[in-house]
Amino acid sequence: MNRSNLVMLDLFAGLKGASQAMVDRGWTVYTVEILERFHPTIVGDVAHLPLLPFAVDLLWASPPCTEYTRKDLPWFRNQPEPDLRLYEATRAIITEWRPRFYVIENVRGAQRYWGRTIHYKSRYLWTDIPLLPEIIGLGNRDKRSIWGGDPLAHWKRSKIPYAISDAIAATIEAFS
Ligand SMILES: C[S@@+](CC[C@H](N)C(=O)[O-])C[C@H]1O[C@@H](n2cnc3c(N)ncnc32)[C@H](O)[C@@H]1O
Repeated sequence: MNRSNLVMLDLFAGLKGASQAMVDRGWTVYTVEILERFHPTIVGDVAHLPLLPFAVDLLWASPPCTEYTRKDLPWFRNQPEPDLRLYEATRAIITEWRPRFYVIENVRGAQRYWGRTIHYKSRYLWTDIPLLPEIIGLGNRDKRSIWGGDPLAHWKRSKIPYAISDAIAATIEAFS
């Protein structure tokens, strides 16, 4: 298998944690992110992404989680309901593009809106990759602490741990 033939599309890429292992393993990776500061392949809004002219082995999407996190906290229960538009746009892209595999990643609170799913520590994964729970295991909350001072602290807390990216890359390679 030539790994550079494997293609990943990393939507809402941020610090690109989700696709780091694929880059290291020689995949072709395209990242989409609305903030230019993260130097994605495509700077833009996922909700307005044109259909790209290549087949995708793995579509990963990490839509913003702040509103779902808030609704999961008792003192924020009276907040308005989360805006589901980016989740719905992601689902539409998956339906239209038909990637071989997909993963949508978010927080525990998103389960109230998207349905219950598997998780790895604090990362909840909606996916069609077979055997994923057995491969990455089911765990407790993430113990990493990245606080104050660091201007990128917010994004570093959102960055997907390498162990998840690597386990998913290895799984898809095994199916290729
Ligand atoms: C939860 S973070 C992603 C974390 C990322 N997976 C990582 O490993 O670092 C969500 C990202 O989505 C970006 N974003 C928010 N709205 C967006 C949109 N409409 N289109 C593209 N990116 C968006 C934010 O700037 C943020 O970097």
